[in-house]
Amino acid sequence: MQTKLTIISPDDWHLHLRNGEVLSKVLPFTSRHFQRAIVMPNLQPPVLCAADANIYRDEIVAAIPDGHNFTPLMVLYLTEQTDPEDVRKGFLAGELVAVKLYPAGATTNSDAGVKDIEKIYPVLEVMQEIGMPFLVHGEVVDADVDIFDREAVFIDQKLIPIRQRFPNLKIVFEHITTKDGVDYVKSCNENTAATVTTHHLVINRNAMLVGGIQPHYYCLPVAKRELHRLALVQAVTSGDKRFFLGTDSAPHLAQYKESSCGCAGIFNVANTLPILAQVFERENTLENLEKFVSLNGPLFYNLPVNTGTMTLLRSETPHALPDDVVTNDGVIKVFDPKMAIHWRVSQA
Ligand code: DOR
Ligand code: ZN
Repeated sequence: MQTKLTIISPDDWHLHLRNGEVLSKVLPFTSRHFQRAIVMPNLQPPVLCAADANIYRDEIVAAIPDGHNFTPLMVLYLTEQTDPEDVRKGFLAGELVAVKLYPAGATTNSDAGVKDIEKIYPVLEVMQEIGMPFLVHGEVVDADVDIFDREAVFIDQKLIPIRQRFPNLKIVFEHITTKDGVDYVKSCNENTAATVTTHHLVINRNAMLVGGIQPHYYCLPVAKRELHRLALVQAVTSGDKRFFLGTDSAPHLAQYKESSCGCAGIFNVANTLPILAQVFERENTLENLEKFVSLNGPLFYNLPVNTGTMTLLRSETPHALPDDVVTNDGVIKVFDPKMAIHWRVSQA
């Protein structure tokens, strides 16, 4: 049995860091293991222009612990008022790496998002021209579409028309949760990729609903039935370059998840790499973990691969779940994958 794996230092291509005290508490879990992360812009208020992104970047950089080598990659929150020229300038200046589409009402802090996709076509025109990635929360929000179908319906109603209209636009279908999403991405050329979260590789919707409502397994898009989880595992463990890690680690205080209207998001970054090693080991594909976490992302984003390395070690005895994160306002619970995790990141 393989007990040691050394890979190029990984990146996280979809991460929520928040701001203020939560940022300072959660960032070290990312910066100790990941060299870069795509930082989601759904703050309150959101990151609406390049100037906002610069302010947020400075706040993140100030919170990086001494000795950690970490670069935040900043993302603009798309609205129907976004100025295409601000996007162009921000990208060409290296201040913005991508633009994120939140359909209005789809998820946490998405109220300012997009209602009418055609209104953002001028921004997409510029992004296609300059090669800037378009990151998509791919769920429709129509009240008459079942929540478990929202991703599949989004592909037909929104993604296919956008792709037809902008054939050269680089699109990342974020945190895909369905076989439909996998099949769609596989049917496209190299201009379309997808991120996959750690938790969607491990849980299906039973985790959230069986034995009582389990709010710490609630996220958006919601986990789907087992056949979809299996399709995600197959896609990422195959090493296919169109799939890369976006943890979607999304910290919320426990009291806001354990409420009569619990919020969506799973904080998984404290144990993501050990869980992923376990998933890839189970599929006998440990040799492809590096592609998923370290190689496929930079290839799509046209960024250099990291120069450092990371070693993962396997022990006979499984490891305990990391401690919850304590803040002045409450705790943030760490994702419990409900499976034995034998891997850990070597601190050497
Ligand atoms: O579960 C989620 N949490 N999905 C999202 O799209 C947003 C995120 C958050 O910001 O908490
Ligand atoms: Zn997210």
